[in-house]
Amino acid sequence: MNFENVSVQKLESFIALVTIERPKKLNALNKSTISELHDAFVALESDDEVRVVLITGSGDKAFVAGADISEFSEFSKEEGTLLAKKGQEILFDFIENFSKPVIAAVNGFALGGGLELAMACHFRLASENAKMGLPEVSLGLIPGYGGTQRLPKLIGKGRAMEMILTGGMISAVLANTYGLVNTVVAQEELISTCISIAKRIIQNAPNSARVAIQAVNAGYKNDMNGFQTEVSLFGSCFGTDDFIEGTTAFLNKRKPNFGAK
Ligand code: COA
Repeated sequence: MNFENVSVQKLESFIALVTIERPKKLNALNKSTISELHDAFVALESDDEVRVVLITGSGDKAFVAGADISEFSEFSKEEGTLLAKKGQEILFDFIENFSKPVIAAVNGFALGGGLELAMACHFRLASENAKMGLPEVSLGLIPGYGGTQRLPKLIGKGRAMEMILTGGMISAVLANTYGLVNTVVAQEELISTCISIAKRIIQNAPNSARVAIQAVNAGYKNDMNGFQTEVSLFGSCFGTDDFIEGTTAFLNKRKPNFGAK
């Protein structure tokens, strides 16, 4: 499945790699790339051969260097509002609530909308050369794709305020210390490390991955009670094929088979 600025590759069984393909513009997110990413994720959602999605940027310099500044420099207040609203809806919130785990492979600059995209993913790994920041204040803006909300939740309010107000970039090592990325590896090992983690996820019940994402996310939503959501999602697992396979396998002292090869 390929688009003009986005490619989707099936790697090993059940793993898909989504790559943003605008290397000359450091993979900046223009309107059509955002819409193509949305279409790619919609297709991956219903693809039974995909259980984990990795997302990265093409080239060795950037994951995504932000929203495409050349596209919105002339925007009015109304157009700016719509840009953020639509983007959050079709891409950033869509990925956060995706029914399959999405891992960001941050392979270089992740700035502005790029860091916001990585933060919308369920977790992040970075290469040693990665640099992360929210430089919107240097453009007379603030982050508009969820950055002011997700960054404090991931790294704490004080550190987030410092990053947002200075607009500065942090190294992969500091991002790791902050808990913004889970692991830092050499650039050539980034995708293979993500694949190893994806393979471990795939050994487990796919329905459990889906509801675990919902339960964790519920705790970060102001209009939801995370504990109550957990109770009802926990209950919803009983009687499912995955539950029957998992518990039967344990009681019969064998490994569960959730279809992973
Ligand atoms: N929007 C549009 N184009 C962008 C872009 C963005 N966010 N980020 C990079 N590009 C383009 C540059 O304009 C340049 O295009 P050109 O070759 O046609 O002039 C190309 O990508 C390469 O970028 P360049 O700035 O020459 O690379 P660099 O190595 O000197 O600097 C960065 C790298 C990331 C520090 C710098 O590109 C940058 O600051 N980008 C903007 C980051 C930002 O503010 N993002 C938040 C947007 S809301």
